[in-house]
Amino acid sequence: MKTPIRVAVTGAAGQIGYSLLFRIASGAMFGPDQPVILQLIEVPVEKAMKALEGVSMELDDCAFPLLKGMVLTDSANVGFKDANWCLLVGAKPRGPGMERADLLKDNGKIFIAQGKVIDQVAAENARVAVVGNPANTNCMIVASQAKRLTPDRFTAMVRLDQNRAQTQLAKKAGVDLTKVKDIFIYGNHSPSMFPAFAHAKIDGRPATQVITDQAWLQGPFCETVGKRGAAIIAARGASSAASAANALVDHVRDLMTPGAIHSVAVKSNGLYGFDPEVWAGMPVRTTGPGHYEVITNYKMDDFAKQKIAATNKELVEERAFVADMLKG
Ligand code: NAD
Ligand code: LMR
Repeated sequence: MKTPIRVAVTGAAGQIGYSLLFRIASGAMFGPDQPVILQLIEVPVEKAMKALEGVSMELDDCAFPLLKGMVLTDSANVGFKDANWCLLVGAKPRGPGMERADLLKDNGKIFIAQGKVIDQVAAENARVAVVGNPANTNCMIVASQAKRLTPDRFTAMVRLDQNRAQTQLAKKAGVDLTKVKDIFIYGNHSPSMFPAFAHAKIDGRPATQVITDQAWLQGPFCETVGKRGAAIIAARGASSAASAANALVDHVRDLMTPGAIHSVAVKSNGLYGFDPEVWAGMPVRTTGPGHYEVITNYKMDDFAKQKIAATNKELVEERAFVADMLKG
């Protein structure tokens, strides 16, 4: 029996938490032979802690063989203690008519505080995945506060966008979605993101040879993927939750699976023309559990360069907006 992985989850009693925790405990994130201990963090508010208790009762009632323990806490110090993975979900979601960046001032503060605690108490091999919006910039904030851990340990989720793009291409081409490969998301988890369709393959052929409607690829396709979060809020009255939880399972599982190739928002270090200090979505190859390298050899045409410049500009503006929050 392997040693259990300690997985800290913030916002554990929230909407995403309710879809996420059961998947982690079932083995979907770390594999069918990897036991886990869930360290569930909520705000110090009676309603939230009571709801968390209810979720933990349901987890008990699932009798998951891999779930070796649960910690329920409103203290980040307790929740992140010795955590191997810190899944930062807890934050305000946006409502109708808002952009994710509108959440920056409120949510940014959460990530300053959590970064400081992660720095002090998380495991030596800790890895952090950020979901709370705006995810890229919150990830930059948390990394700025946790200097003990190198920036590559901090990733933000653009996997939901990759999954959305894959489905949209499959529908347009009229193929099963498993036939769509190598569709990667560049830049911000916002409408400015760029799903780089020119590199995608459908049934082994360039996507642009299968879907010859270039105007659709450049227009409605990019727009549908970029604005899917808002479309879901408009339809459900609440932001995506089950699909976000599913994407986080994909994000972490693929970061733990050597050879996996997937979209992750990472510190750009200047790759693909991004500002070196921002966290931007790009394709990575997992090189070992928790380790990855950016795939750097994709060539960008003029359209792609223009899209990347636009999403980079937004990331740089968000960075300037939170400059005060980046002081360690
Ligand atoms: P929710 O309001 O249902 O749940 C959030 C939970 O976080 C609440 O229970 C709240 O009490 C808790 N929380 C708030 N501050 C906290 C803190 N400091 N420590 C611990 N817990 C805290 O929201 P949700 O639908 O679960 O969404 C969570 C976040 O994820 C939002 O910011 C949302 O916009 C974002 N999101 C991101 C993606 C993505 O693709 N990156 C997708 C969907 C949602
Ligand atoms: C999403 O993409 O569904 C989430 O980021 C929620 C949102 O605010 O759009």
